[in-house]
Amino acid sequence: MANIVVVGSSNTDLVVRVPRIPQMGETIIGENMSMVPGGKGANQAVAAARLGAQVTFVARVGNDSFGQQSLSNFNQEGIDTRYITVDDQTPSGAALIAVDERGKNAIVVSPGANARLYPDDVDRAEEVFTRADVVLAQLEIPLLTVQRAFELARQYGARTILNPAPAMPLSETLLALTDIITPNELEARQLINARPSATPEEMAHELYAKGIPTVVLTLAEKGALLLYEDGLKHFPAIEVQAIDSTAAGDAFNAALAIALAEGMEPELVIRFANAAAGLSVTRPGAQPSMPTRDEVEALLGW
Ligand code: RIB
Repeated sequence: MANIVVVGSSNTDLVVRVPRIPQMGETIIGENMSMVPGGKGANQAVAAARLGAQVTFVARVGNDSFGQQSLSNFNQEGIDTRYITVDDQTPSGAALIAVDERGKNAIVVSPGANARLYPDDVDRAEEVFTRADVVLAQLEIPLLTVQRAFELARQYGARTILNPAPAMPLSETLLALTDIITPNELEARQLINARPSATPEEMAHELYAKGIPTVVLTLAEKGALLLYEDGLKHFPAIEVQAIDSTAAGDAFNAALAIALAEGMEPELVIRFANAAAGLSVTRPGAQPSMPTRDEVEALLGW
């Protein structure tokens, strides 16, 4: 069984479906709000558990109803929650999400307790890194915490996947600790400050030139690009009826982590991840949309 450590954020998503994403200064009327478990780290942890991995989630939630609800969800999913700290000083993370008629979204995150997930929290969980195949992190928590997690991953021989979402400047140290980076197109643009005309292929090459051994650039309905020692390959997305793209990247990253831990061939790894992402887009919400292993394999005809 793949052993995955996810270090990252947990949020409660307050989601409103809207006819279109509002412009600056504009008020628009949407549908009734729904409250959905989310947060990039938590979504990836839940997806990895549903896809059949043994998952430890290192995180921080507030001592409030959002935090309690999240913890109880993680336990129901069979996730190891021993290293989730309940923080009395600050509220749980939350996200305000507008989803338009095409299933595209705009998200504002209020980090709350996620901003206080410190390197010490990772150190407390050191024993789980000794068994990890893959350590997976995103950027809704402090960068030094991600760095500490990847240092422990290196120390114990686990592979590291950095989902640089939301994008922000990354230190040389963190880049050197990253085996696979998985930006979407916008994040890649922001990470390298690309000129507007830069193509996804050019951006992938520029990230690769920073010394990251594998770059996976996700392209939403256009699929994904894989750039590694064997060269650049494009993988089309699986065509689906798009309802809500929230957390599609999270499903992709979790599936990537598992496929890698299970030793799948690089091409199968990306097909597996594309299928998980595709399924998540067919359903509303973040964690509720994360697919199971059986669903992904059925879609792929495996
Ligand atoms: O990737 C989707 C997630 O981004 C949402 O669940 C929201 O909480 C934000 O973290």
